[in-house]
Amino acid sequence: MAVRTSVPVPEFVREILAESRTEGNKLFLQTQLTQSEYKKVDRVLHTMGGKWNRRERAHIFSSDPAEVIAAAVASGTTPNTVGKILEAYYATPEPLATHMVAGEHSGIADLEAGARVLEPSAGEGALVRAILHANPDVHVTAVEPNPERAAKIASDPRVSVVVSSFESFAATAPGPFAAVVMNPPFALPNRPTVWMEHLYTAWDLLVPGGQLLAIAHGSYTWRPERKYQAMREFITAHGGCEELPARTFATSGTEANSVFLHARRPAHL
Ligand SMILES: C[S@@+](CC[C@H](N)C(=O)[O-])C[C@H]1O[C@@H](n2cnc3c(N)ncnc32)[C@H](O)[C@@H]1O
Repeated sequence: MAVRTSVPVPEFVREILAESRTEGNKLFLQTQLTQSEYKKVDRVLHTMGGKWNRRERAHIFSSDPAEVIAAAVASGTTPNTVGKILEAYYATPEPLATHMVAGEHSGIADLEAGARVLEPSAGEGALVRAILHANPDVHVTAVEPNPERAAKIASDPRVSVVVSSFESFAATAPGPFAAVVMNPPFALPNRPTVWMEHLYTAWDLLVPGGQLLAIAHGSYTWRPERKYQAMREFITAHGGCEELPARTFATSGTEANSVFLHARRPAHL
């Protein structure tokens, strides 16, 4: 799909695109819009190659737009597909990775030697490095579906790299983990809240008393839909949320707001 330039996608347009539906090369907006809102959404879609077709009541693209839409939702800019859409790859900046694993909620440093820690969407290993820095004696399982990125995770006897989607990995019923540290993809094609699925899957892989440390989309704090409420109730019941400063991921290529979620699995489960 040829796309010309990259333009910023306003927050409200991202929310609308996140709820949109694609079918083949058509994109259907699911939200009722005012004329001025529609114009802004249409301008963004046009930049990505979509043209409104009144008869179809959809924007028509030259090919399936699900991937570019997911990239725009995740990054806050329209992707320049002359380059490559990188399956929502936004590396965790080192200071944040350190804060996640060494902060007051972590418990990583206290894990005993040989304890198993999971990074289920490991990218090039930013969190893997931080985990081992916080506790050099744990064993990290790093799952990453993109083989080029997985290959960049430094070879280390304390790290098992699994080139796989998290979904396929979890289906193999891997043994429980003492902790999961994750910055999952926020949105994937036609899965606008994939990060929630990944969080719940990760939770199910924890030992009783295990700790979940996760980056999530900033919309966690305010979206009114039932699934967001359920996620907030779940996190509040087991831990808490820290809102991260705006532009935390700017150096990694996204303006998306984000939060740091932490939750500890009850010891009796
Ligand atoms: C936001 S990046 C974070 C990378 C890394 N966790 C970090 O903190 O630097 C999300 C990563 O999820 C990977 N990813 C995409 N779909 C995935 C899936 N279904 N299962 C596991 N990882 C996935 C992407 O390839 C990308 O490397």
